[in-house]
Formats: sequence, C-alpha cells, structure tokens
Amino acid sequence: MRQAPIYPPHIERLNSYSPGLPIEDLARRLDMPLSRIVKLASNENPLGASPRALAALAEATIDLSRYPDNDCTDLVNALAQQLGMPPDWIVIGAGSESVLGMATGALLTVGRSTLYAQYSFQAYVNAAQRAGATAHVVPSPDFMIDLGAMRQASVKESIALVYIANPGNPTGTCVDPDELEAFIAGQPDGTVVVLDEAYLEYMPSAIRGDAVEWVRRHPHLLVTRTFSKAYGLAGLRVGYGIAQPALAGMLRRVRSPFQVSQPAQTAAMAALADSDFLDRTVAMNGEGHAQLCAAFRELGLRHLPSSTNFVAVETGDSAALAGRLEQHGLIARPLGSYGLKTWLRVSIGSAAENVRFLEALGREVETVQ
Ligand SMILES: Cc1ncc(COP(=O)(O)O)c(C=O)c1O
Repeated sequence: MRQAPIYPPHIERLNSYSPGLPIEDLARRLDMPLSRIVKLASNENPLGASPRALAALAEATIDLSRYPDNDCTDLVNALAQQLGMPPDWIVIGAGSESVLGMATGALLTVGRSTLYAQYSFQAYVNAAQRAGATAHVVPSPDFMIDLGAMRQASVKESIALVYIANPGNPTGTCVDPDELEAFIAGQPDGTVVVLDEAYLEYMPSAIRGDAVEWVRRHPHLLVTRTFSKAYGLAGLRVGYGIAQPALAGMLRRVRSPFQVSQPAQTAAMAALADSDFLDRTVAMNGEGHAQLCAAFRELGLRHLPSSTNFVAVETGDSAALAGRLEQHGLIARPLGSYGLKTWLRVSIGSAAENVRFLEALGREVETVQ
C-alpha cells in the first residue's frame, strides 16, 4: 500500500481560510432575492466599483488568450507618478494580501520570528503559520496597538518581520503617526516592518502619516495598499507594495508570475484616476459612520473609534447575533476568531443598507434584553 504523504507539522496544523457567508448561499437558504441580502461583512464599497474602472473595462480590447503583463508596467508607472517615486519602488500583487504573502515568503521560515499586535488582521496569523515561523503577539490594551510594548518585544525577540495595520482590522483604530514613524525608525537591524494601509483612504488627513515619505527614509519599511476597499475593486484582486528597490526586488523574486490579470490592471489604472469616485466613497462612508454610531449610542452599545469603513460594536454573544441577523437577510462579521466573542464587526453600507441593519439589530438586541 502506498504511504500517505508526509507534511511538515506546521502545514498539518493549518486551517483553511473561511470567508464570510456568500450572498448567494444566504439568498438560497432564505429563498430571498439576491437584491434583498445586505452583506456588511467584508468591508467592501457600497457604491460598487469606480465607474471609470467599469468604463475602461468595457472599452478595452483585452486578448484573454494572452498572459497579462507580468510587470504591470502601465499600472506601476501610473502609481509611480501619483506617489512621486521611481517605478522600481512599487510591487503589484493580486490584492494587498498577496503582497503581504510576498513579504512572508521573502522573510519568514521555520526558526524565524514575526511580531504583530493582538487583534491583528487574520492574514498575519495565517502567514506566520504557513511559513512555520514563531509568532509573538503583543497585547493591545483598549484595542489600541501598544507601540512601546511592540518595540520592546522586537528588540528582545530578534524579529524578522513586524506587521502593523494602520488603521487596524478588526478594531478600526489607529496609532499616532509620529509615534509610528519613531517605532519604524527604532527597529533593530535586520527587522522589516510591513505597514498595512488597506484603509488609508478612509483616515481623516489630520491623523494620517506620510508613509511614502517614510519609505524614502527607511529601507526596512514596506507599505501595502489596495484597490479592494475605497476603489471598489475587491473582485478583481489588485494591491501594491511600496518599498526601496532592494526590498521591493526581493518581493518580486518570490512573487508567483502573472498573478494580476489584464482586466484587473486596466480597471485599477482607471480607478486610480477616479478622484470623484474616491471623494464620493469617503463622504458616504463618513455619513454612514455617523448614522451607525448614533444608533449604537441610542441602543447603549459600546463601539470602537474607527477610521475605516467598518465599526466594531459590542453586542454580547456575536456569533449567535450574527445567526439571527442572517434570518433578516443581513450578513455581518462576528469576531470570535479574533478572540472577541462579544464583538460584531459591521461594514459601513449605503444609508438604506445601514437602516436595514440597524432595524434588525434593534429588534434582536431588544429580544435579548
Ligand atoms: C487590514 C487589511 N489588510 C489587507 C487586506 C487585504 O485586502 P486585499 O487583499 O483585498 O487587498 C484586508 C482585507 O480585508 C485588510 O482588512
């Protein structure tokens, strides 16, 4: 008999990624039209995709029988121009998650260590597990990243890769930009910092740091950004990293080829120029944020200060609540897998979607009290 394959122990321990409930599944289960389902679980853009991206896709003549441009030349050049830096400082991936994966691939392996804050984005946890690296997790009192404690840990533990999301997911909270740059500057030799700015566009400019300038100053910094959130292109999978050429080049070496399709490159380029859509997205998000937070206060529900397109709200048993919300055709994200069993994360939707969510939440919270 053939012997079963032998997997490394850290691979055997992996769990496969479990995404939120798909809209189609819930519609089928409830026998509801797709249009009645409101998904506020994946921090997508309630305005849909950038209209300029959609128009570019409709007008483009893309030969689908050809492999895409592996270097994403036009998109890299457009980003380089917008950011004011040379093209070889930019690395494109299939979503920023792919760029995070390149950093992991380049820097982590069995016997090496990574560091991130408690309540960090799940991809950091998974990446460390996939690489078989040792993960050091620093407590986040009051749901805020404790940069002082992170610094102490990075000095003590000999860390190859530090992940920081600013703002964070699932908390939505951010850190002071000056303290963040001091943290980056103070890392020991050999440590790379990944600063994940997936929600940058939603941050008020007064509390934003200039991460592009930080990349110019710090050769050990990688900043990641995405077209999935504010640009509304989650379905096409495009994100990018910004780093000095030595680090960027190393990421390119571990990147799997042809990972960003030609339609994705075309749409991202058009979306990048769609400042009107970006403005509308941010304005709508601000209104939705105020709408949700006012209702949470009225319901007596604690919520975290968010600089993103989602809010974490304390609801009691959030897995049970999410199950009851599904009966209303609503999908939100319970945070038990982050160690936050009593917290629910809700993406900020359109005004009408927020009303649907708040009405159901109000009913379900009353039922419990
Ligand atoms: C903090 C953070 N970083 C990165 C990502 C990855 O996004 P994408 O791979 O779609 O660019 C997400 C997605 O939810 C996120 O919340």
